[in-house]
Amino acid sequence: MATAASAVGLGNIWKFPYMAGQNGGSAFILIYLVCVILFGVPIMLCEFSIGQNAHSGIHSAFKRLSGSNKWQWIGTLFTLASVLFLSFYLVVTGWCLNYLVQALTNSFEGATTDSLTQAFATTTTETWQPLIYIISSAILSMLIIWWGVQNGIERVCKIMMPTLLILLAILAVQGILMDKDMEGIAFLFHPNFSQINAMTIFNAMGQCFFSLSIGLGVMITYGAYANRRNNPVATSFQVVIIDTLVAILAGLAIFPAVFSLGIAPEQGTELVFVTLPLVFEQIDSTGIMGILFFLLLFIAAITSTISGLEVPVAYTVGKTGMKRRHAILLWTSVAIVLASLCSLSLSNKIGSHLFILEWPLFDWFDFFVSRLLLPIGGIVTCIFVGWVMPRYKTKRLLKHCSKAPNWLLNFFFFLIKFVLPLLIILIFLDGLGFFASTKL
Ligand code: PHE
Repeated sequence: MATAASAVGLGNIWKFPYMAGQNGGSAFILIYLVCVILFGVPIMLCEFSIGQNAHSGIHSAFKRLSGSNKWQWIGTLFTLASVLFLSFYLVVTGWCLNYLVQALTNSFEGATTDSLTQAFATTTTETWQPLIYIISSAILSMLIIWWGVQNGIERVCKIMMPTLLILLAILAVQGILMDKDMEGIAFLFHPNFSQINAMTIFNAMGQCFFSLSIGLGVMITYGAYANRRNNPVATSFQVVIIDTLVAILAGLAIFPAVFSLGIAPEQGTELVFVTLPLVFEQIDSTGIMGILFFLLLFIAAITSTISGLEVPVAYTVGKTGMKRRHAILLWTSVAIVLASLCSLSLSNKIGSHLFILEWPLFDWFDFFVSRLLLPIGGIVTCIFVGWVMPRYKTKRLLKHCSKAPNWLLNFFFFLIKFVLPLLIILIFLDGLGFFASTKL
């Protein structure tokens, strides 16, 4: 449940709908599903194999499994990537908390598309107010991991995940009922192959890594805590299925409503924050659905934040022997400072000072982590499991729990040794415009 909760987050409910909207809807979803099967399941299995075989986090797993110091840098890379990830993710988590407070104070009453678009712009471009929400979200994440993995992380995730699924399912049914002309459904599920280009594939791949929390060492870190009976094959499939289900449900909750309310589907980051309050306004005069939704969105975000925070914490504790609580304090403070800078880069008063090459720092961090570092992390993970660590360890783990036939295991190794690293590099270069079919 904790791994599923790490995977299910803003990536599914906030990012997936607007990425799909901006990349041609169904075309994007189709490629996304291919990426999930092709990259998601094998790379997650690799991460679990490292964590469960080493029985230690990313500070020493690579050394233990390779028998040499040469691969230790992977742990450092993951730690750095997690901190960068936290920095922009906490900003959006803060927006969710802000919207939860607004829902609680009934601020969406009588709202229109314009007023909500305006309200979103104000929420995100304020200078100081977002910092309060960032700090509160960071402190909450800190407290949860302070309670430990079982009492904190696992207990919170076990209650929140099922509740989130139920609420999203209700919203999706509501969305489908609103969509009289079925435009939203067609946008989501009627594939238009002409819209598929290098950029769609690059974006879908990045989204797949982001949404499944792979390429950052989270599943290695959680895998190291898992007991021997944990079945990584079952866990990987469960996580991938739940994660994809939540993303599709979020799409169903949003796009039918988008079309029936006459909103542009290709809106950016504001999509969830504008569309859903409008839907709530139309269907629920009590305001309870809005409160519940933003509560759960916030929780989905927090359960992902804590997994991102656990990576540098576990690394530092393992590497330096620092007390766990000190490491938690250290990384929470670093994340707060960086997230504040990201948030300030969006401020309409002082943001321009935090622009680099016409992009705010926030966008840079997002781009860097989601499109670059996670796929790079994925390549490194495949190479490590495929070429460096003893093959029998992964084979034994997978065979023991899944009774997979030998040909399937051999196919798995063929995928992670050759196909996936090459494919990721190709998609990467193509998406960055190296083959001149697209530009950023
Ligand atoms: N998977 C999370 C989401 O969808 C984000 C995440 C990425 C969390 C990487 C941890 C590590 O929101």
